[in-house]
Amino acid sequence: MIRVDLRSDTVTHPSPEMRRAMYEAELGDDVYGDDPTVNELQQKAADTLGKEAGLFVTSGTQGNLVAVLAHCQRGDEVLVGDQCHIMNNEAGGTMVLGSVILYPIKTDAFGFLEPDLIQEAVKPRDYHKPPTRLLTIENTHNASSGRALNAGQMKAMADAAHEKDLQVHLDGARIFNAAVALGVPASDLTEQMDSATFCLSKGLSCPIGSVLVGSKDFIDEADRWRKMLGAGMRQVGIVAAAGIVALDSMIDRMQEDHDSARHIASRMAEMKGISVDPEHIQTNIIRFDVPAHTGNEIAARMKEEGVHINGGDSDLRIVTHYGVSSEDYEFAISALDRVMKEIS
Ligand SMILES: Cc1ncc(COP(=O)(O)O)c(C=O)c1O
Repeated sequence: MIRVDLRSDTVTHPSPEMRRAMYEAELGDDVYGDDPTVNELQQKAADTLGKEAGLFVTSGTQGNLVAVLAHCQRGDEVLVGDQCHIMNNEAGGTMVLGSVILYPIKTDAFGFLEPDLIQEAVKPRDYHKPPTRLLTIENTHNASSGRALNAGQMKAMADAAHEKDLQVHLDGARIFNAAVALGVPASDLTEQMDSATFCLSKGLSCPIGSVLVGSKDFIDEADRWRKMLGAGMRQVGIVAAAGIVALDSMIDRMQEDHDSARHIASRMAEMKGISVDPEHIQTNIIRFDVPAHTGNEIAARMKEEGVHINGGDSDLRIVTHYGVSSEDYEFAISALDRVMKEIS
Protein backbone atom coordinates (compact mmCIF):
# COMPACT_ATOMS: atom_id res chain seq x y z
CA MET A 1 0.00 0.00 0.00
CA ILE A 2 1.26 3.50 -0.85
CA ARG A 3 1.52 5.65 2.28
CA VAL A 4 3.29 8.70 0.78
CA ASP A 5 3.07 9.93 -2.80
CA LEU A 6 5.95 12.29 -3.59
CA ARG A 7 5.92 11.98 -7.38
CA SER A 8 4.50 15.46 -7.90
CA ASP A 9 2.52 18.29 -6.32
CA THR A 10 -0.17 17.44 -8.89
CA VAL A 11 -1.28 14.53 -6.67
CA THR A 12 -2.69 16.97 -4.10
CA HIS A 13 -6.37 16.89 -3.22
CA PRO A 14 -8.52 19.98 -2.58
CA SER A 15 -8.70 21.26 1.00
CA PRO A 16 -11.99 21.02 2.95
CA GLU A 17 -12.49 24.78 2.40
CA MET A 18 -12.13 24.28 -1.37
CA ARG A 19 -14.66 21.46 -1.36
CA ARG A 20 -17.13 23.68 0.52
CA ALA A 21 -16.57 26.53 -1.92
CA MET A 22 -17.09 24.17 -4.86
CA TYR A 23 -20.36 22.93 -3.38
CA GLU A 24 -21.63 26.43 -2.82
CA ALA A 25 -20.28 28.06 -6.02
CA GLU A 26 -22.57 30.35 -7.98
CA LEU A 27 -22.64 29.09 -11.57
CA GLY A 28 -23.44 30.22 -15.10
CA ASP A 29 -22.55 29.30 -18.68
CA ASP A 30 -18.95 30.42 -19.08
CA VAL A 31 -19.05 30.22 -22.88
CA TYR A 32 -21.50 33.15 -22.61
CA GLY A 33 -19.20 34.75 -20.02
CA ASP A 34 -21.96 34.23 -17.46
CA ASP A 35 -20.21 32.25 -14.74
CA PRO A 36 -19.61 34.71 -11.87
CA THR A 37 -17.20 32.37 -10.10
CA VAL A 38 -15.01 31.94 -13.19
CA ASN A 39 -15.09 35.70 -13.79
CA GLU A 40 -14.03 36.33 -10.20
CA LEU A 41 -11.15 33.83 -10.43
CA GLN A 42 -9.93 35.24 -13.76
CA GLN A 43 -9.92 38.82 -12.48
CA LYS A 44 -8.34 37.84 -9.18
CA ALA A 45 -5.56 35.97 -11.00
CA ALA A 46 -4.97 38.92 -13.33
CA ASP A 47 -4.85 41.39 -10.40
CA THR A 48 -2.49 39.14 -8.44
CA LEU A 49 -0.05 39.01 -11.34
CA GLY A 50 -0.47 42.67 -12.30
CA LYS A 51 -2.22 42.07 -15.64
CA GLU A 52 -5.49 43.28 -17.16
CA ALA A 53 -7.33 40.04 -17.78
CA GLY A 54 -7.28 36.30 -17.18
CA LEU A 55 -8.53 33.11 -18.82
CA PHE A 56 -9.33 29.88 -17.00
CA VAL A 57 -7.83 26.94 -18.91
CA THR A 58 -7.88 23.21 -18.30
CA SER A 59 -4.17 22.68 -17.64
CA GLY A 60 -0.71 24.22 -17.72
CA THR A 61 -0.08 22.58 -21.07
CA GLN A 62 -3.23 24.14 -22.52
CA GLY A 63 -2.37 27.55 -21.06
CA ASN A 64 1.07 27.50 -22.68
CA LEU A 65 -0.32 26.25 -25.99
CA VAL A 66 -3.10 28.86 -26.13
CA ALA A 67 -0.54 31.56 -25.24
CA VAL A 68 1.83 30.55 -28.03
CA LEU A 69 -1.03 30.34 -30.53
CA ALA A 70 -2.28 33.78 -29.51
CA HIS A 71 1.18 35.39 -29.73
CA CYS A 72 2.33 33.75 -32.98
CA GLN A 73 1.29 33.08 -36.56
CA ARG A 74 1.82 29.82 -38.45
CA GLY A 75 5.52 29.57 -39.43
CA ASP A 76 6.78 31.77 -36.58
CA GLU A 77 9.51 30.72 -34.18
CA VAL A 78 9.53 30.66 -30.39
CA LEU A 79 12.73 30.71 -28.33
CA VAL A 80 12.55 28.30 -25.39
CA GLY A 81 15.00 26.96 -22.83
CA ASP A 82 16.33 23.56 -23.87
CA GLN A 83 15.33 22.10 -20.49
CA CYS A 84 11.87 23.62 -20.30
CA HIS A 85 8.50 21.90 -20.03
CA ILE A 86 7.12 23.43 -23.24
CA MET A 87 10.07 22.00 -25.18
CA ASN A 88 10.27 18.57 -23.60
CA ASN A 89 6.96 17.64 -22.02
CA GLU A 90 4.06 19.10 -23.97
CA ALA A 91 4.08 16.63 -26.87
CA GLY A 92 5.29 19.29 -29.31
CA GLY A 93 1.78 20.79 -29.29
CA THR A 94 2.81 24.21 -30.54
CA MET A 95 4.54 22.63 -33.54
CA VAL A 96 1.81 20.10 -34.29
CA LEU A 97 -1.27 22.26 -33.73
CA GLY A 98 0.10 25.72 -34.45
CA SER A 99 2.87 25.08 -36.99
CA VAL A 100 4.97 27.25 -34.67
CA ILE A 101 8.60 26.19 -34.40
CA LEU A 102 10.38 25.82 -31.05
CA TYR A 103 14.04 26.86 -31.03
CA PRO A 104 15.91 25.69 -27.89
CA ILE A 105 18.48 27.87 -26.11
CA LYS A 106 20.98 26.44 -23.63
CA THR A 107 19.71 26.83 -20.06
CA ASP A 108 22.11 27.23 -17.15
CA ALA A 109 21.98 25.02 -14.04
CA PHE A 110 19.56 27.47 -12.40
CA GLY A 111 17.01 27.70 -15.22
CA PHE A 112 18.34 31.07 -16.46
CA LEU A 113 18.74 31.95 -20.15
CA GLU A 114 21.70 34.23 -20.83
CA PRO A 115 20.49 37.48 -22.49
CA ASP A 116 23.28 37.22 -25.09
CA LEU A 117 22.13 33.74 -26.08
CA ILE A 118 18.56 35.00 -26.40
CA GLN A 119 19.58 37.82 -28.70
CA GLU A 120 21.93 35.66 -30.78
CA ALA A 121 19.09 33.19 -31.37
CA VAL A 122 16.79 35.81 -32.92
CA LYS A 123 16.76 35.31 -36.69
CA PRO A 124 17.45 38.20 -39.04
CA ARG A 125 14.62 39.22 -41.37
CA ASP A 126 15.33 36.78 -44.20
CA TYR A 127 12.86 34.65 -46.08
CA HIS A 128 15.04 31.58 -45.51
CA LYS A 129 14.30 31.86 -41.77
CA PRO A 130 11.20 31.71 -39.60
CA PRO A 131 10.39 35.06 -37.97
CA THR A 132 11.29 34.87 -34.27
CA ARG A 133 8.25 36.12 -32.40
CA LEU A 134 8.28 34.99 -28.80
CA LEU A 135 10.51 34.02 -25.86
CA THR A 136 9.19 31.69 -23.17
CA ILE A 137 10.65 31.56 -19.66
CA GLU A 138 9.93 28.96 -16.96
CA ASN A 139 9.83 29.94 -13.25
CA THR A 140 10.21 27.96 -11.05
CA HIS A 141 12.35 25.87 -13.34
CA ASN A 142 11.25 22.28 -12.99
CA ALA A 143 14.26 20.55 -14.55
CA SER A 144 16.75 22.42 -12.36
CA SER A 145 15.11 21.22 -9.13
CA GLY A 146 12.53 23.98 -8.98
CA ARG A 147 14.96 26.89 -8.90
CA ALA A 148 13.36 30.32 -8.50
CA LEU A 149 14.48 33.05 -10.90
CA ASN A 150 14.46 36.46 -9.21
CA ALA A 151 12.97 39.72 -10.52
CA GLY A 152 16.35 40.93 -11.82
CA GLN A 153 16.87 37.73 -13.80
CA MET A 154 13.32 37.88 -15.18
CA LYS A 155 13.88 41.47 -16.26
CA ALA A 156 17.25 40.71 -17.87
CA MET A 157 15.75 37.94 -20.01
CA ALA A 158 12.64 39.93 -20.90
CA ASP A 159 14.65 43.07 -21.76
CA ALA A 160 16.86 41.05 -24.10
CA ALA A 161 13.76 39.74 -25.88
CA HIS A 162 11.90 43.07 -25.98
CA GLU A 163 14.94 44.84 -27.45
CA LYS A 164 14.58 42.46 -30.37
CA ASP A 165 10.80 43.07 -30.61
CA LEU A 166 9.84 39.66 -29.23
CA GLN A 167 6.92 39.07 -26.90
CA VAL A 168 7.63 37.21 -23.64
CA HIS A 169 5.50 34.45 -22.13
CA LEU A 170 6.08 33.00 -18.68
CA ASP A 171 5.35 29.35 -17.99
CA GLY A 172 4.76 30.08 -14.33
CA ALA A 173 3.24 26.71 -13.48
CA ARG A 174 4.84 27.21 -10.04
CA ILE A 175 5.31 31.00 -10.00
CA PHE A 176 3.87 31.24 -6.48
CA ASN A 177 6.52 28.81 -5.24
CA ALA A 178 9.10 31.19 -6.71
CA ALA A 179 7.46 34.22 -5.10
CA VAL A 180 7.29 32.54 -1.68
CA ALA A 181 10.90 31.32 -1.91
CA LEU A 182 12.14 34.80 -2.85
CA GLY A 183 9.84 36.61 -0.41
CA VAL A 184 8.36 38.91 -3.08
CA PRO A 185 4.85 39.40 -4.53
CA ALA A 186 4.39 37.22 -7.61
CA SER A 187 3.64 40.38 -9.62
CA ASP A 188 7.30 41.41 -9.18
CA LEU A 189 8.23 38.34 -11.21
CA THR A 190 5.62 38.89 -13.93
CA GLU A 191 6.06 42.64 -14.37
CA GLN A 192 8.02 42.38 -17.63
CA MET A 193 6.03 39.43 -18.98
CA ASP A 194 3.52 40.00 -21.78
CA SER A 195 1.62 36.90 -20.67
CA ALA A 196 1.90 34.29 -17.93
CA THR A 197 0.28 31.02 -16.92
CA PHE A 198 0.18 29.47 -13.49
CA CYS A 199 -1.23 26.16 -12.34
CA LEU A 200 -3.93 25.81 -9.72
CA SER A 201 -3.59 22.04 -9.67
CA LYS A 202 0.02 21.82 -8.42
CA GLY A 203 1.25 23.32 -5.11
CA LEU A 204 -2.00 25.30 -4.82
CA SER A 205 -3.78 21.93 -4.49
CA CYS A 206 -6.82 22.50 -6.69
CA PRO A 207 -8.21 19.49 -8.56
CA ILE A 208 -8.07 21.01 -12.08
CA GLY A 209 -6.99 24.08 -13.97
CA SER A 210 -4.57 26.86 -14.73
CA VAL A 211 -5.01 30.56 -15.47
CA LEU A 212 -3.46 32.50 -18.35
CA VAL A 213 -3.10 36.26 -17.80
CA GLY A 214 -2.16 39.19 -20.03
CA SER A 215 -3.61 42.28 -21.69
CA LYS A 216 -7.33 42.38 -22.47
CA ASP A 217 -6.68 42.11 -26.23
CA PHE A 218 -4.32 39.19 -25.78
CA ILE A 219 -6.81 37.33 -23.57
CA ASP A 220 -9.61 37.91 -26.12
CA GLU A 221 -7.40 36.28 -28.75
CA ALA A 222 -6.41 33.45 -26.37
CA ASP A 223 -10.10 32.84 -25.65
CA ARG A 224 -10.70 32.18 -29.36
CA TRP A 225 -7.91 29.59 -29.41
CA ARG A 226 -9.17 27.97 -26.21
CA LYS A 227 -12.60 27.60 -27.84
CA MET A 228 -10.99 26.10 -30.95
CA LEU A 229 -9.18 23.57 -28.76
CA GLY A 230 -12.53 22.47 -27.38
CA ALA A 231 -12.09 23.96 -23.95
CA GLY A 232 -14.95 26.45 -23.91
CA MET A 233 -16.40 25.13 -20.65
CA ARG A 234 -19.86 25.69 -19.23
CA GLN A 235 -20.69 25.71 -15.48
CA VAL A 236 -17.00 25.49 -14.72
CA GLY A 237 -17.30 27.81 -11.73
CA ILE A 238 -17.66 24.59 -9.76
CA VAL A 239 -13.94 24.09 -10.35
CA ALA A 240 -12.91 27.76 -10.41
CA ALA A 241 -14.29 28.13 -6.86
CA ALA A 242 -11.39 26.06 -5.57
CA GLY A 243 -8.99 28.40 -7.38
CA ILE A 244 -10.32 31.44 -5.53
CA VAL A 245 -9.78 29.69 -2.20
CA ALA A 246 -6.30 28.67 -3.34
CA LEU A 247 -5.27 32.23 -4.18
CA ASP A 248 -6.59 33.39 -0.80
CA SER A 249 -5.22 30.66 1.42
CA MET A 250 -2.74 28.27 -0.19
CA ILE A 251 0.13 30.51 -1.32
CA ASP A 252 1.90 31.32 1.95
CA ARG A 253 1.64 27.73 3.19
CA MET A 254 3.93 26.61 0.36
CA GLN A 255 6.84 27.72 2.57
CA GLU A 256 6.18 24.50 4.54
CA ASP A 257 6.73 22.47 1.36
CA HIS A 258 10.00 24.30 0.72
CA ASP A 259 11.20 23.71 4.28
CA SER A 260 10.29 20.03 4.01
CA ALA A 261 12.15 19.71 0.70
CA ARG A 262 15.29 21.32 2.15
CA HIS A 263 15.08 19.04 5.19
CA ILE A 264 14.69 15.90 3.05
CA ALA A 265 17.57 16.97 0.78
CA SER A 266 19.88 17.53 3.73
CA ARG A 267 19.09 14.03 5.06
CA MET A 268 19.59 12.58 1.58
CA ALA A 269 22.99 14.25 1.26
CA GLU A 270 24.14 11.99 4.10
CA MET A 271 23.07 8.83 2.27
CA LYS A 272 25.59 6.76 0.36
CA GLY A 273 25.09 6.70 -3.42
CA ILE A 274 22.98 9.88 -3.62
CA SER A 275 24.23 13.07 -5.17
CA VAL A 276 22.20 16.10 -4.09
CA ASP A 277 23.12 19.60 -2.90
CA PRO A 278 20.61 20.75 -0.24
CA GLU A 279 21.70 24.37 -0.82
CA HIS A 280 20.39 24.11 -4.39
CA ILE A 281 16.87 23.28 -3.16
CA GLN A 282 14.87 26.52 -2.98
CA THR A 283 11.31 25.31 -3.49
CA ASN A 284 9.47 21.97 -3.46
CA ILE A 285 11.33 19.88 -6.07
CA ILE A 286 14.34 17.68 -5.30
CA ARG A 287 16.06 16.13 -8.28
CA PHE A 288 18.92 13.83 -7.43
CA ASP A 289 21.38 11.55 -9.16
CA VAL A 290 22.03 7.94 -8.29
CA PRO A 291 24.46 5.44 -9.87
CA ALA A 292 23.64 4.71 -13.52
CA HIS A 293 20.83 2.26 -14.27
CA THR A 294 19.62 2.20 -10.68
CA GLY A 295 17.00 4.99 -10.84
CA ASN A 296 14.07 2.85 -11.92
CA GLU A 297 15.10 0.09 -9.52
CA ILE A 298 15.21 2.55 -6.62
CA ALA A 299 11.78 3.96 -7.52
CA ALA A 300 10.37 0.42 -7.73
CA ARG A 301 11.87 -0.56 -4.36
CA MET A 302 10.55 2.65 -2.79
CA LYS A 303 7.09 1.73 -4.03
CA GLU A 304 7.35 -1.62 -2.27
CA GLU A 305 8.25 0.37 0.86
CA GLY A 306 5.04 2.41 0.46
CA VAL A 307 6.59 5.56 -1.05
CA HIS A 308 5.95 6.73 -4.59
CA ILE A 309 8.71 8.81 -6.22
CA ASN A 310 9.47 9.59 -9.88
CA GLY A 311 12.29 7.51 -11.30
CA GLY A 312 14.43 7.82 -14.42
CA ASP A 313 17.53 5.86 -15.43
CA SER A 314 20.01 7.63 -13.19
CA ASP A 315 17.99 10.49 -11.78
CA LEU A 316 14.99 10.67 -9.50
CA ARG A 317 12.52 13.32 -8.38
CA ILE A 318 10.77 13.97 -5.11
CA VAL A 319 8.20 16.77 -4.78
CA THR A 320 6.85 17.99 -1.44
CA HIS A 321 3.26 19.22 -1.20
CA TYR A 322 0.08 19.87 0.76
CA GLY A 323 -1.40 16.90 2.59
CA VAL A 324 1.83 15.16 3.62
CA SER A 325 2.60 15.16 7.35
CA SER A 326 6.08 15.45 8.82
CA GLU A 327 5.71 11.81 9.99
CA ASP A 328 5.10 10.78 6.38
CA TYR A 329 8.20 12.66 5.25
CA GLU A 330 10.25 10.90 7.96
CA PHE A 331 8.74 7.58 6.80
CA ALA A 332 9.90 8.35 3.24
CA ILE A 333 13.39 9.38 4.37
CA SER A 334 13.82 6.13 6.36
CA ALA A 335 12.59 4.08 3.41
CA LEU A 336 15.07 5.77 1.07
CA ASP A 337 17.90 5.23 3.53
CA ARG A 338 17.07 1.50 3.70
CA VAL A 339 16.83 1.15 -0.08
CA MET A 340 20.11 3.02 -0.71
CA LYS A 341 21.95 0.82 1.81
CA GLU A 342 20.47 -2.25 0.14
CA ILE A 343 21.59 -1.33 -3.41
CA SER A 344 25.07 -0.04 -2.53
C1 LIG B 1 6.90 23.89 -15.56
C2 LIG B 1 5.65 23.23 -16.00
N1 LIG B 1 4.91 23.80 -16.95
C3 LIG B 1 3.76 23.26 -17.39
C4 LIG B 1 3.30 22.08 -16.85
C5 LIG B 1 2.04 21.47 -17.42
O1 LIG B 1 1.00 21.45 -16.52
P1 LIG B 1 -0.21 20.42 -16.74
O2 LIG B 1 0.26 19.09 -16.22
O3 LIG B 1 -1.32 21.02 -15.94
O4 LIG B 1 -0.52 20.36 -18.18
C6 LIG B 1 4.03 21.44 -15.86
C7 LIG B 1 3.54 20.18 -15.28
O5 LIG B 1 4.20 19.51 -14.52
C8 LIG B 1 5.24 22.02 -15.41
O6 LIG B 1 6.00 21.45 -14.48
